[in-house]
Amino acid sequence: MKEIKIYCPATIANLVCGFDVLGMCLNEPNDIMYMKLLDEKKVIIHSKDGYKLPSDPAQNTAGAPLLAIIEELDQQIGFEIIIEKHIKPGSGIGSSAASAAGAVVGANHLLKNIFSKEDLVRFAMLGEKVASGVKHADNIAPCIYGGITLIRSIFPLDIISIPSPPLFITVVHPQIEVRTSDARQILRKEVLLKDAIKQWGNIAALVAGFMQNDYALIGRSLEDVIIEPVRSILIPGFDEVKKKCIETGALGGGISGSGPSIFMLSINETIAKNVEVAMKEIYQRIGLDHHTYVTTIKGKGVMSCEL
Ligand code: HSE
Repeated sequence: MKEIKIYCPATIANLVCGFDVLGMCLNEPNDIMYMKLLDEKKVIIHSKDGYKLPSDPAQNTAGAPLLAIIEELDQQIGFEIIIEKHIKPGSGIGSSAASAAGAVVGANHLLKNIFSKEDLVRFAMLGEKVASGVKHADNIAPCIYGGITLIRSIFPLDIISIPSPPLFITVVHPQIEVRTSDARQILRKEVLLKDAIKQWGNIAALVAGFMQNDYALIGRSLEDVIIEPVRSILIPGFDEVKKKCIETGALGGGISGSGPSIFMLSINETIAKNVEVAMKEIYQRIGLDHHTYVTTIKGKGVMSCEL
């Protein structure tokens, strides 16, 4: 029986101003999965980590999309997967999306690529629904397409890949857990028109900055007047980290997805590593355990290979 290995990358959703509509795929960290096709309608999940994620496929972010694939095909097929999570759940760098996207890309590989990328996003969003109660594609789309993606709409799906100049990304993950569902619950349901105008100006300019290789414009547009003021209170040291990283030379950054990770974009690796040092100094002083990554944009999303 053919077995495949799947590399499922971390992602940064929102990219500061683009709540639920922008996302970026990262080279590091990655979850690893192994997957085999079964000849009966079932999904078997083995977790090789200490995160105690549900093994019932209907409750699992990788399992729910696979059940949907089995139902849609209505054939005697199923999947057995081993999941090695390296992207900690609740970290804000797309842990649930990596599981969901990895599972559907792997299934499509085993089924000889019968589904389009858009179909795969549609299935994988069911995993996000299990994880956070809502379908959103700003981790799933970059995880499957790679690079930076803009999700103009999820019903119907309309995903646009955005080219960008080389960027270095520094991520700090303070070791607290913020559940996406909680981080969504605290958001205001209405926004002031003046804030909306600022926000859509920034989103449009950020996309223009990526497409025109304009680093200064990217930096100016990494501003969020709607979500960050509310969510940042959940992240110890957030304001200080942001200020210090920009002083150190980062173009800008903010909360990664729904947090608690914070990310910063820089034009070169030296600055990105200095930013990492600045982040570590602050969390060491605060006395909060943390992990950091310095990485780049992954041009290709989930990758699978035969063993
Ligand atoms: N756009 C989503 C949110 C991403 O910010 O709630 C969650 O990773």
